[in-house]
Amino acid sequence: MAISRLNGKHPVIITGFLAFVLLYFTYLNIQKLADPNIVHLPNVQHNESEFSSGKNIFFILSTLSPRGEIKLTARQACSIESAARTNPDWKIFPLFVTASWFNALNNEFISPLLRYENIHLRTVDLATFALGTPLEDLFARHALQKSSYPVEHTSDVLRLLVLYKYGGTYLDTDVVVRKSFDLLQPNFLGSEGHGYVANGVINLQATGDGHRFAEACINDLAQNFNGTVWAANVPFLVTRNLRRFCNVSKVASMSPGSDRRVR
Ligand SMILES: *[C@@H]1O[C@H](CO)[C@@H](O)[C@H](O)[C@H]1NC(C)=O
Ligand SMILES: *[C@@H]1O[C@H](CO)[C@@H](O)[C@H](O)[C@H]1NC(C)=O
Ligand SMILES: *[C@@H]1O[C@H](CO)[C@@H](O)[C@H](O)[C@H]1NC(C)=O
Repeated sequence: MAISRLNGKHPVIITGFLAFVLLYFTYLNIQKLADPNIVHLPNVQHNESEFSSGKNIFFILSTLSPRGEIKLTARQACSIESAARTNPDWKIFPLFVTASWFNALNNEFISPLLRYENIHLRTVDLATFALGTPLEDLFARHALQKSSYPVEHTSDVLRLLVLYKYGGTYLDTDVVVRKSFDLLQPNFLGSEGHGYVANGVINLQATGDGHRFAEACINDLAQNFNGTVWAANVPFLVTRNLRRFCNVSKVASMSPGSDRRVR
C-alpha cells in the first residue's frame, strides 16, 4: 500500500519539476525580451542590397556562445575599429555566428564600436545562410557543428561563402588596418612567406574573376570539406585553387607581375 502510494507520487513530482523548469526559462526569455537594454542584431540576410556597393569589410566571430550573447575581446574590437577608422567610406560588418544579442549597459568593447556610423553588427544563422549555394548540403548535415574544430572551420568556410555571396574584403580579427583599402586593386589575398597563401586577408569582388575564384573555392569545399584536420580546409584549399586559377605552381609566381587577374 505504502509502496504503491510512493510510486504514484513520482509522476506528480516530475511533472511539477518540469513545469517549474519551463516557467523559469519562459521567465528568463520574457525578461530578456522586455529588457530595454538588450539589443538584438539584424540577421545578415535581412537586407542583402546593403552589400551591393562592394565596399564591404567582413569580420567573422564564430566563438560559440551558449546563451547567444555576442562577445568581443579588446583585440577583436581594436581590429574592427582600425578598419572603420581607416576606411570611412566602407561598411564594416562584424558577423556573429549564431550569437545575436548584447546588453547595452554591460559590455566593455561593443559600445565604443557603435559610435562609428560605418560599423554594422550582424548575426549569421547557419540554418539559412548557405541555402541556394553549393554549400547548402554541407550546412544541412551540420558538418561545421560536428567538426573537430567547429570555431575555426566555421570561420574558414564562412569567409569564403560571405565573399562568394556578397563580395568585399574579409579580415581576421587580429588584423590591424593602417591605410584605406581604396589604395589596392581589387581581388587580393595575403601571403605568409613564399610557401602558401594565407587566408586572414582576402578581397574578392562579387562579379568577374573575384567571384569565379570564390566559386571555385566553394565548390572545392563542398566536395572536400574535412572536419577532422585543423588546416585541411581553407589555407590549403585557397593555395590549391589559386595555383589552378593562375596556372602556376609556385606561390611566388602569383604576384601581380605574373598574373593580373588575382593578385
Ligand atoms: C536596404 O539597404 C539599402 C542599401 O543600404 C537601403 O537603401 C535600403 O533602404 C535598405 N532597405 C531596408 C528595407 O532596410
Ligand atoms: C579527413 O582527413 C583524414 C586525414 O587525412 C582522413 O584520415 C579522413 O579519412 C578524412 N575524412 C574524410 C571524410 O575525408
Ligand atoms: C597553363 O600553363 C601551361 C604551361 O605554361 C600551358 O601549356 C597551358 O596551356 C596553360 N593552361 C591554361 C588553361 O592556360
